Amino acid sequence: MKSLNFNNKWILVTGASSGLGYEMARQLAYQHKANLIIAARRADKLNQLKAELEQQAGVQVKVVVADLSVQADIDRLISLSLEGQELYAAILNAGITYFGPHIEMPEGDFERILQTNVISVVRITTQLVKHFEIAGKESGVMIVSSMAALYPPPYQAVYAGTKAFVMNFINALQYELKNKQLSLTVYAPGGIATEMTEGEKFNELKAWLMPVEQAAKEGIAALQSRKYNHIPGLLNRVGSKFMKLLPKSFIVGQLGKTYQKSLDKLK
Ligand SMILES: NC(=O)c1ccc[n+]([C@@H]2O[C@H](COP(=O)([O-])OP(=O)(O)OC[C@H]3O[C@@H](n4cnc5c(N)ncnc54)[C@H](OP(=O)(O)O)[C@@H]3O)[C@@H](O)[C@H]2O)c1
Repeated sequence: MKSLNFNNKWILVTGASSGLGYEMARQLAYQHKANLIIAARRADKLNQLKAELEQQAGVQVKVVVADLSVQADIDRLISLSLEGQELYAAILNAGITYFGPHIEMPEGDFERILQTNVISVVRITTQLVKHFEIAGKESGVMIVSSMAALYPPPYQAVYAGTKAFVMNFINALQYELKNKQLSLTVYAPGGIATEMTEGEKFNELKAWLMPVEQAAKEGIAALQSRKYNHIPGLLNRVGSKFMKLLPKSFIVGQLGKTYQKSLDKLK
């Protein structure tokens, strides 16, 4: 399948107000000259990014302020993405976690995580795939999952479950595509230095975090080259192969010890 070419094409990036989504949006604009539809809840951050990219990268940027845990906002984002310009690709990156003992998770967090990480992804992907199947043109969709889908970290049990859901959903759906110019990619990073991992709770893991610029670069390349599943970082990829040789309970136990150490230090 021919690689995607983002030059002067419209790409949707969700969760573009910070972290990986923000950095992918910047790289897509500066390095690939892509026009962008950027979505998240924080209007100020999105509008700042729009102003910067339009002035300095010379691309067009459309802002959609949307809370992806809310059905009406998901529907509005889908409509605005498919109307007014020809959408070429999408990166569904918005995501949240809860880090702490599962039974202490605040009321409502489970539903919010499920809505944001799973329900919005399935709803948006479904409508985009329907659109791209009918259009029959060159296109690509990338979902940001996580290595947590493969090796679920304790104290982020719900998050790990959501990331495994989207990975399996996209991997299975890819087979059903009739448009041979459409690809679905799952991007599964290990830890990245972003707002998600910046609190003290992640202190024990800070040394393992990938710079967000590298994670963004590899993500864009994975979408562009239409990878099926991609884990960024050679160490993560080799580690992941090696970990397959060990019992999953052992790996999860090691992750649990590291995360527990971080949590214990906060007591
Ligand atoms: N950081 C890591 O170690 C790591 C590792 C593997 C995978 N990932 C995945 O990478 C993706 C990006 O995370 P990140 O690390 O870049 O974290 P981040 O800096 O916290 O960014 C999360 C983005 O998602 C948006 N978002 C959150 N809830 C939303 C909602 N209800 N509606 C709309 N947008 C929402 C946030 O924007 P607003 O707050 O403005 O809405 C923000 O732009 C996530 O899917 C995450 O699971 C992260």
